[in-house]
Amino acid sequence: MEWTTEKRYKKYSEWTAEELLDLQAQATKSDYQLSYHVRPQSGLLNDPNGFSYFNGEYNLFYQAFPFGAAHGLKSWFHLTSKDLVHWKNMGLAVKPDTKFDSHGAYSGSAHVIGDELFLMYTGNHRDENWERHTYQIGAKMDKNYNITKLEKPMIEKPDHVTEHFRDPQLIKFNDMYYAIIGAQDAKTKTGKISLFRSKDLKKWQDLGYVDFSNDEMGYMIECPNLVFVDEIPVLIFCPQGLDKNITNYQNIYPNMYMLGEQMRFNKAKFITNQEKPLNLDDGFDVYATQAFNAPNGKAYAISWVGLPDISYPTDAENWANCMSQVKELHVKEGVLYQQPVPAMASLRKNGTPLRVEKTLDTHQTLMQDASQNYELKLDIEANQEGELYFAANNNLSAGIKISFSTKDDAYLTVNRSQAGIAFDQEHGETRTIKLDANQRLSIDLFVDHSLAEMFINNGKNTMTFRYFAPKENTKLAIASDGELNFTGTHWIMEK
Ligand code: FRU
Repeated sequence: MEWTTEKRYKKYSEWTAEELLDLQAQATKSDYQLSYHVRPQSGLLNDPNGFSYFNGEYNLFYQAFPFGAAHGLKSWFHLTSKDLVHWKNMGLAVKPDTKFDSHGAYSGSAHVIGDELFLMYTGNHRDENWERHTYQIGAKMDKNYNITKLEKPMIEKPDHVTEHFRDPQLIKFNDMYYAIIGAQDAKTKTGKISLFRSKDLKKWQDLGYVDFSNDEMGYMIECPNLVFVDEIPVLIFCPQGLDKNITNYQNIYPNMYMLGEQMRFNKAKFITNQEKPLNLDDGFDVYATQAFNAPNGKAYAISWVGLPDISYPTDAENWANCMSQVKELHVKEGVLYQQPVPAMASLRKNGTPLRVEKTLDTHQTLMQDASQNYELKLDIEANQEGELYFAANNNLSAGIKISFSTKDDAYLTVNRSQAGIAFDQEHGETRTIKLDANQRLSIDLFVDHSLAEMFINNGKNTMTFRYFAPKENTKLAIASDGELNFTGTHWIMEK
């Protein structure tokens, strides 16, 4: 199907109920459909929005284009959860139905104010010459999930930024509201994070750009997000076009972070000792991660598993992308950790212990049929090397291959080149991380049909990625030239 501009921006009311039902059915019956992750009911999902805790529940929204696998007219789709694992679909919430968001209710955040959830987001508008106009909009959601938009935009675009000015995060600090907004500087066309301050959410003062790095941050920063992790300020952002000499990355656009010492809001200064931003995830497909501080003192993050400007095989089935699981953030000894939330363990069924066989004859089958929805925990001893295969066929010529060494030159490589339908080959089919030499390696792998999330060494690294394997390829195996010592457990994951 060709996605003309006209079709992408067709009003929601002009799509028929049959068309929508048909799209929902296509998504549901896909072999690649996820079973325990948030996925689009139909069409395309992108950024997480408005991740928050309100009215006794976690609330999450995502950017949605319900009518196909295209970045068309966006709205916010709403979900709620008690435990960050079981999500209830609440339907479309913020729709592109005013002059200010006529061409998309773009990304934003949520903040509890009184007994309402205040949403702040970007309205995308195109004029008759198809020129972009950006507005930072406010809306209130009451306890019955009714949403009322403010009549006028909250923040006018300052002249020193281009129309690429979006994705506000509303934060309250010392009785003041702050909005951090992704931006492109008008003069230099470089990526910036704008900071605004307000006492009452009505009058806003431009505090300029957040000073957090001496490097140029590409040509545009999307989805900036400040969160306090174990009291340490962490800045998460997507610097599009970042020079790879600053921090190397392989994905089309990076999702990075910096750990700070202090956030001086009034001086627009993020004080940090970290010289360069780091990749938040070392896999293939994480973008637009949004994190927030929950009332229980924890910091939670969730990511879009998908990238802008990349085609995925399910486009042919008219749906695309999914959310990561929620990750609990911690900082230990100056390192950011991302971990599964405890409630993920409530999905575990039928734990199977996996044992080492003393002599590995080319490879050891851990499970001939591991299913397509499972968690695998493996602990591998120091000074060994080998390969783990999953979503594999019988002779392992097809599958995801994870090579690792826990010797002097310790590393872990994910190779998705033989997994199934090829996609985004342009940005490479392997991803490698370095590991500490001569240390045990622990892998906590979550597989959900076409999504893999690996938490390495208790979340010191995460590697998240999609793959599109034939559904009969469910073998799990391990291989090594020598002896391999490990212990492990496999659980079926069911909602
Ligand atoms: C990031 C992004 C945001 C924008 C939204 C539109 O993926 O481009 O900057 O608000 O998606 O869907």
